[in-house]
Amino acid sequence: MADADTTSAKDYHVDIPMVSEPFFLRGSNNLDWGLKNRLAKIFNPRSGRTVMLAFDHGYFLGPTSGLERVDLSIVPLTPYADTLMCTRGILRSCIPPTYTGGIVVRASGGPSILKELSDEEIAMSIDEAIRLNAAAMAVQVFVGGVHETKSIHNMTRLVDLGNAHGIATLGVTAVGKEMARDAKYMRLATRMCAELGATYVKTYYVEDGFDTVAAACPVPIVIAGGKKVPEAEALTFAYKAVQEGAAGVDMGRNIFQAEHPVAMIQAVRKVVHENCKPKPAYDFYLTLKNEKAKKAKSAR
Ligand code: R5P
Repeated sequence: MADADTTSAKDYHVDIPMVSEPFFLRGSNNLDWGLKNRLAKIFNPRSGRTVMLAFDHGYFLGPTSGLERVDLSIVPLTPYADTLMCTRGILRSCIPPTYTGGIVVRASGGPSILKELSDEEIAMSIDEAIRLNAAAMAVQVFVGGVHETKSIHNMTRLVDLGNAHGIATLGVTAVGKEMARDAKYMRLATRMCAELGATYVKTYYVEDGFDTVAAACPVPIVIAGGKKVPEAEALTFAYKAVQEGAAGVDMGRNIFQAEHPVAMIQAVRKVVHENCKPKPAYDFYLTLKNEKAKKAKSAR
């Protein structure tokens, strides 16, 4: 049995009000403790931002360039990511369970690139998300798409299940080929996701008016990278996005298809967490890339 506490000189600090810090993420203050704790595994509480590494593309695209061997191409990047976004199949088969960052698991799917992409269903149970220790479940929302309502219902169902178990829901605004990628569309899609309960939302950066997209979305927004562009360009739009209100990036191809992915993810971190401007971030990328090349040469 523990000793009884006989200390007489206790200090209750009666003159100091109870410490009660607001939670660091926008729109998240009224969430439950477990959900906040999981969000703190996705977003760095110091910067309030995240570098999510997205490599779930295979769920409808198959072995996308750069993801042919996730064990070889992605696992070396994981120490630099705050969060991994992937399917449960890749998580179980390729990602070491010693990874301690956040896991965002793909929870919707169905059609391949050969079919109508908006025809998705919920593709994972909440039990499975809990078993995998997921911090969030990602679900595609096709605003304006053929199966708009079904995809919204997929999201709201996952929000209900996620909220019941303290797991976040990431609403992913999917933009079909025929849809305009402009601020007006992004404001509509991101706001709908937030209003219907998404804990946070993923969208695309738009040059004109992204600040209004971020301002009108009452929960955190992260931006997808989109198709591969030159490294300097990717660092530039990542910089603009976070300066204009994004809480980070959920970037895939612009990292794992970069000429030097390990250098690229570190440069993206500088932009996202340290507000590093695009030019020094690109210089940092080149320095890391050249160091690696020198090491490889001297090892030969
Ligand atoms: C697409 O919906 C996938 O979920 C990807 O995770 C997402 O597009 C981010 O990857 P990328 O930066 O390659 O666009």
